[in-house]
Order: sequence, then C-alpha cells, then structure tokens
Amino acid sequence: MATASRPPVDDWTTDYDIFHPTYCSDPGPIWADIRQRCPIAHSERWGGSYLPTRYEDVAEMARMVPALSSQEFIVVPPVPLIDPETGEVLRSRPYAPPISSDPPFHTEARRLLLQAFSPQAAATFEPYTRELAHRLIDEFADKGQCDAAVQFAQQIPPKVIAHLLGLDENMGDTFIEWVRGVLEIGATNPEVRVATGLKMLKFWGEEIGRRRAEPTGDFISWLLEQELDGKPVDDIHVTSTCNLLLVAGIDTTWSSIGAAIWHLATHPDDRRRLVDEPELLPTAVEEFLRAYSPVTMGRLATEDVTVNGVTIPAGSRVLMNFPAANRDPEVFPDPDTVVIDRAHNRHVAFGIGIHRCAGSNLARMEMQVALSVFLERIPEFHLDGSGPVTWAGGQVRGPRSIPLHFTAA
Ligand code: HEM
Repeated sequence: MATASRPPVDDWTTDYDIFHPTYCSDPGPIWADIRQRCPIAHSERWGGSYLPTRYEDVAEMARMVPALSSQEFIVVPPVPLIDPETGEVLRSRPYAPPISSDPPFHTEARRLLLQAFSPQAAATFEPYTRELAHRLIDEFADKGQCDAAVQFAQQIPPKVIAHLLGLDENMGDTFIEWVRGVLEIGATNPEVRVATGLKMLKFWGEEIGRRRAEPTGDFISWLLEQELDGKPVDDIHVTSTCNLLLVAGIDTTWSSIGAAIWHLATHPDDRRRLVDEPELLPTAVEEFLRAYSPVTMGRLATEDVTVNGVTIPAGSRVLMNFPAANRDPEVFPDPDTVVIDRAHNRHVAFGIGIHRCAGSNLARMEMQVALSVFLERIPEFHLDGSGPVTWAGGQVRGPRSIPLHFTAA
C-alpha cells in the first residue's frame, strides 16, 4: 500500500488512517490509545468516518438498525459501476444481499442464504478441504521453505468457494485477483475497484446464463430456482449474492488462516503445545479469530445517533471495528496476548446482531482443517527472514506474505 504521498498521522484519535502500514501490521496499541482518550475516533481521511474501539459501543451500534444502515457497508465511499460501452449506471453503490440491506428485505435474503450454510453443509466440504491442504503442502514439503500466505492460506478459501458454488477450482487465482481488486488494491484505488467489478458482473452473467439454459445441480442453479418475497429470484439478486460469497468467503478466511500460521511461527511455545495437544485446536481457532479478527464493516448513519456521548451526524460513515472490540480489556483480560486455551471468549470476529456472518461454520471448518494439516505435516516452522512479512488492512486485515523455513514431519 503506497503511503509515501500520504501525510503522517500525528493523532490517531482525530486523524486515523486505516490503510497506514502500522495500522495494518499492529493496530492493537493504536486501539488502546483511542480507547483511553476518545473512545470513538473520527478522521477525515478516505472520505471521513467514525471508529469505535470499545466492545459495548460496537455491540450497541450493531443493534442500531436502520439508523446505522448497511446500505453502505464498505469502509470507503462507494463508486458507481458504469458500463463503459453504454454509459449505463449498472450499480450506484455495491449491492450484495443480504450484507448490503436492512430489514425487512435483509431478513428474507438472509433466510434464503442460511439454508446453504448450516454446520452440516459446512461439514460436507471437510474431506475436500483436507485433501486440498495436503495437496498444497505436497508442492513445497521437500523444499524446506515456503510462503505460507501465498502458497497455503491464500489457496484454500478460493478453491473451497469454487467447489461450493459449482465453479472450476482452477479459477482460484482469478478469484484471488478479483478479491484483491475489490477489497485490497481497489479499496484505495477506485479505478481498479470498478474495472474488477465489471469483470465480475460479466463472469456471473455468463455463469447464470448457462445454468438458466441447463441447470447443473450446484449452488448457483439452486439459488436460481428459489423464491424471495413470493417471487422467483432475479438475475441481479443471484449475481450480487454470488459476488458477496466470493468476496466475503475468500479474503476473510485466508487472512485468518494466515494470521494463525504467522502467530505460530513467532510463538514456538504455542506451536509446540498445539502439536502435542491437537484437541486444543478448536479453542485456539477461536482465540486466533479474536486476536487477529480480519473484518471491519461500514455503516451509513441515516439519522444523527449518539453513542457513549459522541454524536455521529446523519450521512456519516461508521466503521464497525469488530477487531478492536475483541481487544477491549473490559471484556477480555490481557487482550493483546494470545491465550490458546482462553476459556471465556465471546469474540465478535464474525460480527454481532442481524448481519452476523452467514459463513462462520464454513470458515471455522476451513481454519481447523488447514491448521491441523499444516501442524501435522510441518510441526517445526519459523519465519525465514528472506523477505518481510507483509500485512494488508482496511476492510480485511491479514498477512499477505509469510516466508517460512521448516522441517517437514
Ligand atoms: C474467518 C472468516 C470470516 C470472518 C472473520 C467473517 C466475518 C464477517 C463479519 C464481521 C460479518 C458481519 C458483517 C456486518 O456486520 O456488516 C460477516 C457477514 C457475512 N459473511 Fe462472513 N466472515 C468470514 C467468512 C465467511 C465465509 C467463508 C462466508 C461464505 C462463503 C461468509 C459469508 C458472509 C455473509 C453472507 C455475510 C452477510 C450476513 C448478513 O448480512 O446477514 N463469511 N462476516
């Protein structure tokens, strides 16, 4: 992320920058500072926004529906998608039901989607995910070194999502490029965001057209046959929901798997303990989700709202800072320390309230399988020092390069 042209941050409570390299790589001390002095920060950068840092404030804001509306859910101002040939405005702002809507429409759109995301449904993808994790490690196991973000963590969610939606898993690299184009590079570069959005719309148009002509029995075909509000779902709804699943299901989970591997590479005691006590893994996964929560969501204030004494004027953007809520010392003792057997862990990495993550069962399954296979095959690993560990941030925070050297089992 280019920062050279950006002014330095003097005071994080009045001028925070969610794309600053320090905020991306180690935001904990920044949140602690804001929490003590504000506790809801404001910044004019990136279109202007408000940033809560306390658990109770974030939880209260998540309940303020529709005063804090999800119609604008990204962390930067939206840009319209315009057809370059006709000049037609295809989307004036990102549309991705259910995440982009408020009740009553949200309730219906979510109910429809949840049917496909039960714990049982997630479990059906476990054998595939396990086989995939082994296959990825086979490719570098004899080399003694790898980039665990690029060659492992990043590769799992796109292929699992492809499998779930009924798409070719060999499109994994294209999906990665699109997700980075929308969420990572595109977050600070509207041209990249629009160009990627147009590519994705074209892709879904073709996939939907094929299935309308000849249903294939996959998720997309299933969605095409459903009803919403008593009417058949239309192509815009299917396109926008598939777009959401691709974007929400990839970057998030890859970031969480990567952050956990980075933690274990830098905390050998935790790594050895998980190798010796694999039954701790589900508890450890919750702790990794808490401590390295990847997702910050946007809300649009549709009226003036007051939270913890701070009035947020109508028209303002609010950043639902689930990651900072998870580091609040009022709720989590010693919040900046990863305690892999933390007993009480009411974390909000998957959000809270009506928009709570629909894919949490799938994400947990992917994390547990990825980490258990990694630790089984590569029980000894460390940062390699051959290159820097790099972090992306903003809407989704996580490591994008983790050079490791290791001894395979
Ligand atoms: C570790 C991985 C993940 C994390 C941390 C995460 C986090 C979140 C968060 C914080 C929200 C709440 C959004 C809000 O309040 O506006 C959310 C919503 C959502 N997530 Fe996830 N997510 C993850 C993985 C996934 C996966 C794998 C999928 C599906 C393929 C998925 C699909 C969704 C959907 C559809 C929603 C919208 C729910 C609604 O609006 O009712 N997520 N996620």
